[in-house]
Amino acid sequence: MFIREFVPNDLARVYQIAVESFSDPYDIAILQQLFEIGAGFLVAVEDGDIVGYIIFWVKEEGLGHIITLAVDKKFRGQHIATRLLMMAVNIFRRCDIHRITLEVKSHNEIAVEFYRKFGFEIDRKVPKYYEDGSDAYVMFFNTEKYQN
Ligand SMILES: CC(C)(COP(=O)(O)OP(=O)(O)OC[C@H]1O[C@@H](n2cnc3c(N)ncnc32)[C@H](O)[C@@H]1OP(=O)(O)O)[C@@H](O)C(=O)NCCC(=O)NCCS
Repeated sequence: MFIREFVPNDLARVYQIAVESFSDPYDIAILQQLFEIGAGFLVAVEDGDIVGYIIFWVKEEGLGHIITLAVDKKFRGQHIATRLLMMAVNIFRRCDIHRITLEVKSHNEIAVEFYRKFGFEIDRKVPKYYEDGSDAYVMFFNTEKYQN
C-alpha cells in the first residue's frame, strides 16, 4: 500500500468509497470542489486500486482541520486510515500547524475510537450538529505531543 496525492481521475472511486462509508456522503461535486480549492487530498492505493482517502485543510490560522476520512470496507483494520492520518499530520507539522480539529458523529463509535487511539481528545459535544439531527464530538489533537 502506498499513499499519494489525489488526481481528478480518482474522483469516481473516492466517491464510491464515500457512498459506501457514510449515510450522508459528500456530494461528488463537493469532493471535486475541495480538490479545486486546494484542500489536502490524499489517497491510499493497493494493487492499483484506491482503498481509502483523507481530505484536510487549514481552517483558520494555525488550526488544521480533518474534513473527511474513509477506507473501503474490505480494507479496514489494516491501519490504512492511521497511515493516511499520519501523513496529513506530518503535512500540517511541516506547515507549522500544531493543533488539529475535527467533528465526528458521536454515535460513530468506531471512528471516535479510531481518532481517540490516534491521540485525539474529545473537546465537546455539539447537539444536532449534522443535518440528520445527529450530535457531533469536536475532537482536538496537538501535533507537538506526537512522535513519528
Ligand atoms: C474509521 C475508519 C476510517 C478506520 O479505518 P481503518 O483503516 O479500519 O482504521 P485503522 O486500521 O487504522 O485502525 C486504527 C485503530 O482504530 C481503532 N479501530 C479501527 N476500527 C475499529 C473497529 N471496527 N472497532 C474498534 N476499534 C477500531 C483501533 O484502535 C485500531 O487500532 P488497532 O488495529 O491497533 O486495534 C473506517 O472504519 C471507516 O472508513 N469508517 C467509515 C467512515 C468514517 O466513519 N470515517 C470517519 C469519520 S470522518
